Amino acid sequence: MTSVLFVCLGNICRSPTAHGIFEKELKTRGLTDITVDSAGTGDWHLGRAPDARATAAAKNRGIELAHLRARLVTPADFSEFDYILAMDDQNLRDLKDMAPAGYQGHLGLFLDFSRQQAYREVPDPYYGDGDGFETVLDLVEDAVDGLLTHIGANRA
Ligand code: 4NP
Repeated sequence: MTSVLFVCLGNICRSPTAHGIFEKELKTRGLTDITVDSAGTGDWHLGRAPDARATAAAKNRGIELAHLRARLVTPADFSEFDYILAMDDQNLRDLKDMAPAGYQGHLGLFLDFSRQQAYREVPDPYYGDGDGFETVLDLVEDAVDGLLTHIGANRA
């Protein structure tokens, strides 16, 4: 089994989008030995479904987010997940502060697995206009593909 955790600030916009797209790709590709979850570093939205704007934008592309619920990253996540992938540099700094010494998994920026060169962080769409959610979807779709290629190659 390989396990992946996507992390952003609120766990209601970017990381649930990554979670939903990754989950759909696992199903489409028949990859039953990879698991996925998402979490946030901030606690404002715990237990809530993803932001309605994120859910609507994803649904337009055939991706379901409505079943997801926000939770915090916990120390136990470092025992459970092989890949912990941050949406931006601040998320990554917060995760590095939490990580136990000797964490054996991959802790890094999600867009390190992306093919595009224009962005190295997924921009936070929460306070922006609606276009931000389309940018998130574009970036996440690309990086999910790169991540699955990477995981497949590393296990081959
Ligand atoms: P996310 O977006 O980190 O992509 O889920 C945000 C959601 C909520 C807030 C900030 C970012 N907030 O400040 O409540």
